[in-house]
Amino acid sequence: MIKNDLFLKALRGETVERPPVWMMRQAGRYLPEFMALKEKYDFFTRCRTPELAAEITVQPIDIIGPDAAILFSDILVIPQAMNIEVEMKNGVGPWLPNPIRSQKDVDQVVVPDIQEELGYVMDAITLTKEMLDNRVPLIGFAGSPWTILCYAVQGQGSKNFDIAKGFCFSQPEAAHNLLQKITDTTIAYLKAKVATGVNAVQVFDSWGGMLSPVDYQEFSWKYIQQIVDALKDETEVIVFGKGCWFALQDMAKSGASALGVDWTCSARNARYLTGGNITLQGNFDPSRLLSPIPDIKKMVNQMITDFGKDKYVANLGHGILPNIPVDHARAFVDAVKEYRG
Ligand code: CP3
Repeated sequence: MIKNDLFLKALRGETVERPPVWMMRQAGRYLPEFMALKEKYDFFTRCRTPELAAEITVQPIDIIGPDAAILFSDILVIPQAMNIEVEMKNGVGPWLPNPIRSQKDVDQVVVPDIQEELGYVMDAITLTKEMLDNRVPLIGFAGSPWTILCYAVQGQGSKNFDIAKGFCFSQPEAAHNLLQKITDTTIAYLKAKVATGVNAVQVFDSWGGMLSPVDYQEFSWKYIQQIVDALKDETEVIVFGKGCWFALQDMAKSGASALGVDWTCSARNARYLTGGNITLQGNFDPSRLLSPIPDIKKMVNQMITDFGKDKYVANLGHGILPNIPVDHARAFVDAVKEYRG
């Protein structure tokens, strides 16, 4: 039994004494302990070595005390396992030397055997569960098929993912073939994570907001819905679509346990669009963690009041930034823990 199950209670919509809290990218570069390991091991070595991934996952639990852990890994281990080369370049970020640009390229992409290609993630989960010793639940995650396509086609991060969008709009058949392969892999991957012991999964649609509402349905949501359908009877599913407030209404009907919201959407609007009945997660502006601690605490209190303490998971509206002081991150977590509504 998990000792602190506030997070799972909130995902199930149960009444809680206070909302649970965790931070997207909570295992990251703002922690000196993380930087010490980053100096010694390159990115994918950290992902592929269960002892390192587990240690990094547990660091924020020990240091800032959130109510859930998220496995240290990356959404890009999926394209890697699908025969798409992915590097992580310091100062550049993800770098894919052979991006997908045609149906011929899509034909080279495989739907892999999960245990064979991503068994190291399962080993990391097993070890992390041991180290957590049931203190808090463990979240597993994957990128949305659209967000993975963005990197697979663009070849690197981008302000507008213009090449990825161009590929979808000029070669829709090839794009859909690729999206379906990613979806099939992601479903098998998340099911394996659940079988290995994660207590919830989050789908990150970080670049969903690049699409118009109509294109979002065709190139992103359709595939996320397949993932939710496949997982919802086995675990709690959270869908986070950055910039995707326009899709919240459909997302609320999907069978997901919770929906992530970024800071550009007010709590009131998110509750209105989702019908008030589904758990919402978010949405503190990550840059607001640069405010003085008393301001952070006030703003967190207001955020909880705006969302309501139930059916709510306090979080940032996107990943924590590397320049956030550790005591400000801890103040964010503490402010939620101190909330008494
Ligand atoms: O949340 C956590 O603490 C778990 C770890 C996690 C990482 N990546 C570790 C990481 C998670 C959940 C991710 C997901 C991820 N990866 C997303 C979706 C979430 C989001 O932020 O939108 C995306 C788009 C990626 C792709 C990716 N990986 C990018 C764009 C980068 C470079 C970021 C940068 O600012 O340099 C990465 C690298 C990465 N993944 C880092 C970490 C901690 C930083 C680099 C490093 O540690 O060497």
